Amino acid sequence: MNIIEVKDYAEMSQKAAEYIIEKVCKSPTLNMGLATGGTPIGTYENLIADFKKNSTSYRDVTTFNLDEYVGLSGDNENSYRYFMDDHFFNHIDIKKDNTNVPCGDGNDLEEECSRYEQLIAKHGGIDLQVLGIGSNGHIGFNEPGTSFNTKTHVIDLAPSTIKANARFFNRVEDVPTKAITMGIATIMKSKEILLLVSGASKKEAMSKLLTENVSESFPASVLKNHPCVTIIADKAAVSGLKIHS
Ligand code: PGA
Repeated sequence: MNIIEVKDYAEMSQKAAEYIIEKVCKSPTLNMGLATGGTPIGTYENLIADFKKNSTSYRDVTTFNLDEYVGLSGDNENSYRYFMDDHFFNHIDIKKDNTNVPCGDGNDLEEECSRYEQLIAKHGGIDLQVLGIGSNGHIGFNEPGTSFNTKTHVIDLAPSTIKANARFFNRVEDVPTKAITMGIATIMKSKEILLLVSGASKKEAMSKLLTENVSESFPASVLKNHPCVTIIADKAAVSGLKIHS
């Protein structure tokens, strides 16, 4: 894992955007895996600013989001489809048909999981997967204990995840309790992974990632088995940790 330590959230967002822009310029047909949550918002803002200034084009880029809440339709403002449209897709020249987010409000969730997994494969897999990390070590919505062999599947959200994400909802009771998420095996098939980490609330997770053995009880630890991972982490998330051996 290549770890880049930066000053703060703003610098993490800027560096992550530069990283992505370079990839998109080199490979205009890039298949990008994308994340939601508080962490990547600044990155999307920088990508939009660059699009407006430099016209970096996403016309031939295809995106696959990591996850979606079960029970929320795409026009619900707490859905991840809505988040992505609002924070990124509506502001660049990507074709909406090339943006993929699992559908969380269909009748047959198992069928949707298998459709999504096959869709990624049909496109030749993900070239660059952007990831965040939960304070409990989840990646996507793969909570602690999830098998490393999982493909896209339905998961029960951990109480700590529901609590952490309640800030986006009016009431904690409104947070869905289930989600569709790419599996750990799906994520690990990505050719390259960019993990973004910011804030003191992620420090314990970073510490575990850097020091503990690979284990299903801490999903992010699997990234140590991936050949091409870059982590951009800010000081608050890594200060005092030994990040280079
Ligand atoms: P956050 O979520 O970016 O809102 O902290 C990250 C995650 O849960 O993966």
